[in-house]
Amino acid sequence: MTARAAVVCGLGQWLPARAVTNDELAGELDTSDAWIRSRTGIGARHVLEDGLGTSDLAVEAGARALKSASGLAVDAVVLATTTPDHPCPATAPRVAARLGLGPVPAFDVAAVCTGFLYGLATAAGLIAAGSADAVLVIGADAFSRILDPEDRSTRAIFGDGAGAVVVRAGTPDEPGALGPVQLGADGSADDLIQVRSGGSRDPFRATTARQADPYFRMAGRTVFRRAVEAMAESSQRALDRAGWSVGDVDVLVAHQANLRIVHALADWMGLDRERCAVHLDRVGNTSAASVPLALADAVAGGGLRPGHRVLMTAFGGGLTWGACTLTWPVVEPH
Ligand code: COA
Repeated sequence: MTARAAVVCGLGQWLPARAVTNDELAGELDTSDAWIRSRTGIGARHVLEDGLGTSDLAVEAGARALKSASGLAVDAVVLATTTPDHPCPATAPRVAARLGLGPVPAFDVAAVCTGFLYGLATAAGLIAAGSADAVLVIGADAFSRILDPEDRSTRAIFGDGAGAVVVRAGTPDEPGALGPVQLGADGSADDLIQVRSGGSRDPFRATTARQADPYFRMAGRTVFRRAVEAMAESSQRALDRAGWSVGDVDVLVAHQANLRIVHALADWMGLDRERCAVHLDRVGNTSAASVPLALADAVAGGGLRPGHRVLMTAFGGGLTWGACTLTWPVVEPH
């Protein structure tokens, strides 16, 4: 019996209206457009308006993905996010309810910037097991809510947004079928990317004896190196599983962390830099939304077309990483 594959059949994206330019940041912090562009490739990022939360981003992108999938009924929702509306409960049930999906199972997956690939792997598992026939996978994050307003190294990089796909049961040989998602993690380095306070180890109510730190912290230089190594290694495993060589890849959709990371990865793999999807110049690092947003942007810009062989890869806090191949199907992003 042929295994049931998860096949991409819908793609949606959403960005908050407000874009913050590098010059605007330079008005607040000791930084400059020239520094940010040359060190990261980022020119602007979008910021969610006050009073809204990650569920608002996720609902917008999810609704568009469902429309792109011609309204296909989904029987599960997986939301990849590190910035849930609340510490408890998960945000996905609220998103499913607001999308009018009825009592479908809905849960969050937390793998920071690798969240979307972890979400895809989870959806593919639900489909392969026969637990679901179609799954809405959303990557949504509002990092503006956890950044230290004084920290120029993270404020320059991160932005808010959401991207989503619908995957349905199909066969491994049809366009849109996900190859096996290659995932990895190294929790011994969990302090490289972390929000230290506000969880069970250091709840806010227990911090009277010492200073709480509610903000996202990142050891940028070490993370840079680990990101390139891990994405290169998992990409090679994904290519091996697909029976592809590097030369077969038409479009590399790597996590949009930093243009220098994307190019270092391409160089390491021996892939032409021209084949890299680049969206971060306009949106920065949108964490779990980064890969689906870059997919949607590449399709809209004409760089990603049906029949193209796509390699997706991401890296994030945890540490976590992953990669997956697919041949792009006929899908119009909304
Ligand atoms: N403007 C001006 N200077 C900045 C700056 C900014 N926005 N951000 C950092 N700097 C400064 C630092 O304070 C440091 O100054 P110092 O030498 O006086 O201490 C200097 O630049 C060098 O810092 P460093 O972190 O070594 O620079 P870098 O070239 O590695 O670039 C990052 C910093 C954050 C852009 C880079 O490390 C990076 O992109 N890392 C990966 C981040 C990432 O993508 N994480 C997500 C993965 S999921």
